[in-house]
Amino acid sequence: APPVRRICCIGAGYVGGPTCSVIALNCPDITVHIADINAARIAAWNSDPDPVTGELVNLPVYEPGLAEVVKKCRGRNLFFTTDIEKAIEEADLVFVSVNTPTKKSGMGKGFAADLHYVEASTRLIASVSSSSKIIVEKSTVPCRTAASMRTILEANARPGLHFDILSNPEFLAEGTAVQDLQNPDRVLIGSLKTKEGELAARRLKDVYAHWVPREKVYTTGLWSSELSKLAANALLAQRISSINAMAAICEATGADVQEVAHACGLDKRIGPNFLKASVGFGGSCFQKDILNLVYLSESLNLPQVADYWKQVITMNEYSKSRFAQKVVSTLFNTITAKKVAVLGFAFKKNTGDTRESAAISLCRYFRQENAFVAIYDPKVPEAQIWLDLTEPGVVDDTKQVKEQVTIHKSVQSACKDAEAVVIATEWDEFKTLDWEAIYASMKKPAFVFDGRAIVDPKKLRQVGFKVHTVGQGPEIVDPIWA
Ligand code: NAD
Ligand code: UDX
Repeated sequence: APPVRRICCIGAGYVGGPTCSVIALNCPDITVHIADINAARIAAWNSDPDPVTGELVNLPVYEPGLAEVVKKCRGRNLFFTTDIEKAIEEADLVFVSVNTPTKKSGMGKGFAADLHYVEASTRLIASVSSSSKIIVEKSTVPCRTAASMRTILEANARPGLHFDILSNPEFLAEGTAVQDLQNPDRVLIGSLKTKEGELAARRLKDVYAHWVPREKVYTTGLWSSELSKLAANALLAQRISSINAMAAICEATGADVQEVAHACGLDKRIGPNFLKASVGFGGSCFQKDILNLVYLSESLNLPQVADYWKQVITMNEYSKSRFAQKVVSTLFNTITAKKVAVLGFAFKKNTGDTRESAAISLCRYFRQENAFVAIYDPKVPEAQIWLDLTEPGVVDDTKQVKEQVTIHKSVQSACKDAEAVVIATEWDEFKTLDWEAIYASMKKPAFVFDGRAIVDPKKLRQVGFKVHTVGQGPEIVDPIWA
């Protein structure tokens, strides 16, 4: 494999877009084409800057710092295109960064990863390539997918061509993608332990070495690399489910989960990060990847291993339902016809992404209790919220949803005449709200349910609110209310 001069990325989503934009930023000597079948998405990546501010406000992915990176590189060595064939054909390295959602039907339904986008991309690479290439699995896939990709390529490619398959899973977190890509904890590259495999891995390492210190690039075998991605997400999600399980004990006993997390995190072996109790984790990865791991374990005839990881998801479902039930029970066991304001709809702050957001589950619970739900989120487009709350193709409940749900452009408007405010996402702007004004506009008693522990309950109680913070037990809440 020669040094990499031209890269194609198949898939211009949350991973392909930011990852390959950052590669283009750091590698001015490499030309990067990001290709996608979704023409609207590509058009949004190519959208014009705002005529007044000059900023790229219409990119399909919101990430702090991303618009600046795209602005700098687009048209220089970064291109977004729907001409996937041409982009593949011209590249010497192709990232496959397509979606791998949980299967909705058939074998492994509800657990296994749907690999048909990966397979379609692989077949396309085989059919259009007239030169040898390095193919990089960037999507999160079950163990041994690289082997399937190689078989497909070898069976379909023109004679004489050689394809090296690498696994290079992406560890960026949404909301901090550019920062994570610019300064990753590690870059993982898996390859076959053959001469060609190791050379291909070195070529990819050379790309990252434009900005990542070489000692941070860890090379392994293909299957270790594939499994490490599932393992890392399972371990991270397990920490959240573990602390959320503690939150339930705290609420029942009078302990404070923030103190417990801090006390535990001071132990170097545990560490302080990723121990924040919450209404439950969301995002497109954790649940999908654990389900994938569960399926893998079951298909390897390891049912105890499967059960172990399944419990992480069960605990997360419990965290969400427990929080929703707390709202209902606190509001005198009924929220029928009451207005509940939900602040935040994205699955975490600094992203417009709502995939598997805990807010979606909360809104469902509140709707089932016949409440009126008023939603505010600073970044999620209104159309996305409607899409997430209705179930097109399952039942057409759009009319009913629209009778029960309103979407607001400000916190103040969402909270007006509400009986309760529920903080579902930890957006920074929720830390500095004018709670006096919000309180004045609400029905009394006015409740705040902080699912992210971001507001100071003492201050809110001084304003007049009844406050429940996730993971805080009755002994430290308002004595009148306890
Ligand atoms: P996404 O849905 O945002 O993007 C995938 C894109 O691939 C879509 O735009 C889709 O149109 C395109 N696509 C699908 N099939 C195609 C084809 N045959 N040709 C061209 N384009 C095609 O998904 P994402 O969030 O970017 O995730 C991609 C992969 O990365 C998944 O496997 C995911 O598990 C993994 N991952 C995601 C994250 C994250 O934070 N989102 C982090 C690490 C890894
Ligand atoms: C995750 C992994 O962190 C990342 O390495 C991988 O590449 C993709 O999946 P992401 O889902 O984008 O990233 O965000 P993350 O920061 O991990 O948060 C996931 C969910 O967990 C969010 O809903 C977040 O609010 C929640 N969370 C996170 C907590 O509830 N408590 C925490 O302490 C941390």
